Amino acid sequence: MDQLAMKKIAAQAALQYVKPDTIVGVGSGSTVNCFIEALGSIKDQIKGAVAASKASEELLKKQGIEVFTTNDVSQLDIYVDGADEINSQKMMIKGGGAALTREKIVAALAKKFICIVDTSKQVDVLGSTFALPIEVIPMARSQVARKLVALGGSPEYREGVITDNGNVILDIYNFEIMQPIEMEKELNNIAGVVTNGIFAQRCADIVIIGTPDGAKIIE
Ligand code: A5P
Repeated sequence: MDQLAMKKIAAQAALQYVKPDTIVGVGSGSTVNCFIEALGSIKDQIKGAVAASKASEELLKKQGIEVFTTNDVSQLDIYVDGADEINSQKMMIKGGGAALTREKIVAALAKKFICIVDTSKQVDVLGSTFALPIEVIPMARSQVARKLVALGGSPEYREGVITDNGNVILDIYNFEIMQPIEMEKELNNIAGVVTNGIFAQRCADIVIIGTPDGAKIIE
């Protein structure tokens, strides 16, 4: 079975967590695109959504779903998003689509983070298969890169990419993360770093893995 089919299985299974008359937090990426399509089929049962990227916002509107801003809501019941990597403690690396900052903001509003992935995203150690994205204020790019080298990583500037917030992305290669909570905090302390793609302090609550045998749910 191909990856897209597994993403669709996970996205469809996430609908069972959507409560009637609520505003749903929606992340970004190709798995979330499948979720937005599925959400369209029950759009009359929900109030609307808050989106973590401009791309998701556009897709939600195309489905006829009303889009609210984060400032319109004080809490969300659920936040549904994909991940680039997820470990057995439900900690993740995110930001492959450069939306990590807004994803962290919307996730922080939600009572439950539901992570939808295909089987390729499961890892033992974060950073072992995917480079860790860091959103950086443009004027600090070189000095942040030097700090990341000092921490043992190999940062690469994601050329041509500007985030929805007007910043740039550095991807850290060769960077296995043994202590995700501590590393998330340490990276956030570097001047010029807006957000890093480790989601460990706020990890997922429910993981839905799309597999050839159906959706596997870890609560
Ligand atoms: C976007 O910035 C990311 O955090 C995505 O959630 C992550 O890259 C997963 O993307 P896919 O669903 O496209 O694999």
